[in-house]
Amino acid sequence: MLEGRVVIVTGAARGIGQAYAARFAGMGAKVVAADISPCDETLAAVKAAGGEGIGINLDVTDMRSVAAMAERTLAAFGRIDGLVNNAALYGALKGGKFEAIEEAQWDAAMAVNVKGIWNCCKAVVGPMRKAGAGSIVNIASLAATYGMPYALHYTTSKAAVIGLTRGLARELGRDNIRVNSVAPSAVATEGTREFFGAKHDKAIETVRDNQSIKRTLDPTDLVGTAAWLLSDMSAFVTGQTISVDGGTVLL
Ligand SMILES: NC(=O)c1ccc[n+]([C@@H]2O[C@H](COP(=O)([O-])OP(=O)(O)OC[C@H]3O[C@@H](n4cnc5c(N)ncnc54)[C@H](O)[C@@H]3O)[C@@H](O)[C@H]2O)c1
Repeated sequence: MLEGRVVIVTGAARGIGQAYAARFAGMGAKVVAADISPCDETLAAVKAAGGEGIGINLDVTDMRSVAAMAERTLAAFGRIDGLVNNAALYGALKGGKFEAIEEAQWDAAMAVNVKGIWNCCKAVVGPMRKAGAGSIVNIASLAATYGMPYALHYTTSKAAVIGLTRGLARELGRDNIRVNSVAPSAVATEGTREFFGAKHDKAIETVRDNQSIKRTLDPTDLVGTAAWLLSDMSAFVTGQTISVDGGTVLL
């Protein structure tokens, strides 16, 4: 499905980002695994899938770092066909009543989860325009489509991702660059364990109970939707947020 496509996945060192990188490589993509943490494990998974990829140290909040990521991708593979904006602060954020959220945590959530996506989009749009095509997939969340309480910094940042997706899709449509979002429900990842802490099992159970499909989402469940959005199979789809939440929020 992604034969020969050059796809950047941010936040690819672990969890869902790692699953995207490895599975996209298995579908024939040349993968750029970018993260603030080392991506060695992800690159091993890319190789094991029979694919090709490079790892890049990236801080999405730093435009110089983001620009360097785009330059390194172009140097390695000559073009950028797809970008998956998956990097986010999630497990690192502390939940609680909205009045109690620390200002530094609020600012960090916005810097990584929102400004980080803006930065990465700015870095890839030049090469995509030049090529006359591109697909950007932003990772939103059930937190936004449902309206998750007690983590308002996270919920708000993910709602911003949906707004950014819609506005940017309209700006970039004339360049044949598509912008869409994927909104997963709670996925079994280290990030989820860190995020819910002692309340993890109960939270996962509640999310599962609200789904039409009564099992917990696995990172690999998200790969098909993201790959479809990156491929020409979705050539006329832009500005959309696709819920991969086992039928929780129904449009
Ligand atoms: N796990 C879930 O239940 C769930 C549900 C809905 C949406 N999501 C979203 O899916 C994505 C992946 O979730 P996950 O559970 O794999 O999270 P995770 O915390 O395991 O992974 C996030 C990755 O982003 C990286 N990262 C953080 N700050 C960065 C920065 N400044 N620059 C570059 N990389 C940075 C981290 O190092 C990490 O590897 C996130 O956008 C998350 O908000 C997750």
